[in-house]
Amino acid sequence: DWTMGAYREEAIAKIREQVGGERVICGLSGGVDSAVAAVLIHEAIGSQLTCVFVDHGLLRQGEAEEVVRLFRDHYNIPLVHVEAQEMFLSALEGVSDPEVKRKTIGRLFIDVFEAESKKIGGAALLAQGTLYPDVIESVSFTGGPSVTIKSHHNVGGLPERMNMKLVEPLRELFKDEVRVLGRELGLPEGFVGRHPFPGPGLAIRCPGTITGEKLDALRKADAIYLEEIRRAGLYDTIWQAFAVILPVKTVGVMGDGRTYDHVCALRAVTSVDGMTADFYPFDMAFLGRVATRIINEVKGINRVTYDITSKPPGTIEWE
Ligand code: XMP
Repeated sequence: DWTMGAYREEAIAKIREQVGGERVICGLSGGVDSAVAAVLIHEAIGSQLTCVFVDHGLLRQGEAEEVVRLFRDHYNIPLVHVEAQEMFLSALEGVSDPEVKRKTIGRLFIDVFEAESKKIGGAALLAQGTLYPDVIESVSFTGGPSVTIKSHHNVGGLPERMNMKLVEPLRELFKDEVRVLGRELGLPEGFVGRHPFPGPGLAIRCPGTITGEKLDALRKADAIYLEEIRRAGLYDTIWQAFAVILPVKTVGVMGDGRTYDHVCALRAVTSVDGMTADFYPFDMAFLGRVATRIINEVKGINRVTYDITSKPPGTIEWE
């Protein structure tokens, strides 16, 4: 795509001008945006870039391994893999308010980046894969009153004391454009086509308080759901699909025993840019199959529901 080719050259020139001879740290989330930002910045400034992948204990099944493998195998970009599960999960203990969750996670990300920056002798800049819709939605909702709907974990600038500047080369792009740029930069198709995954991760798919037990059940249910979506050939038609574990227990019967376990909600939407979305009209047989598998295979879940809310009035994530 020639337009993206031109964008790429322009972005590289801008990054070089902004960065000069300084060091840059880029936070990788496992998603397309930060990966594209990292590869673009690496093209611009090479070894001045260090990537940091933070495992906050809120990733999906197998996710950390996938991301680390992609960066170590495909790119010669230095990658620091920070195991910060304990730090994030203990800070989130007992927290149920969505905005407190988001802000806690955002603050801890900054702490980790700061610590990693010190280790490499001080990075002057922090790079993020912030997109245009992230910027808009953290400020106000399209067409609506000027209120914050959700504090995106990576929007809102850095704390004053930090003395670091932001590099956000995707700030003017929409998701579909980032994917085009990713292909232009040679990222593997399987990675470019990945569904978006929010920085706060499973924390915002676990309404109420977060426990290891709920996260385990959520990871398993989510993996089954996505496996079935892939098997049915629907992955690329859907913008984003995921499971949510609810802080509600209901009564069920299994074999000849009573169960009292969590409810799991399934979400799938189509969208162009994530700003508006329609729930995906699965056929009932598909949903029935997924529900049966989740209830049979995941300990702690005995009921499955499907979310038929579009955006607006719902948001894509539950928190
Ligand atoms: P909502 O839930 O606001 O989500 O309709 C729109 C899109 O943004 C993603 N999302 C986030 N991504 N940090 C991110 O990197 C965040 O804090 C965040 N919150 C929501 C969400 O997954 C969807 O694709």
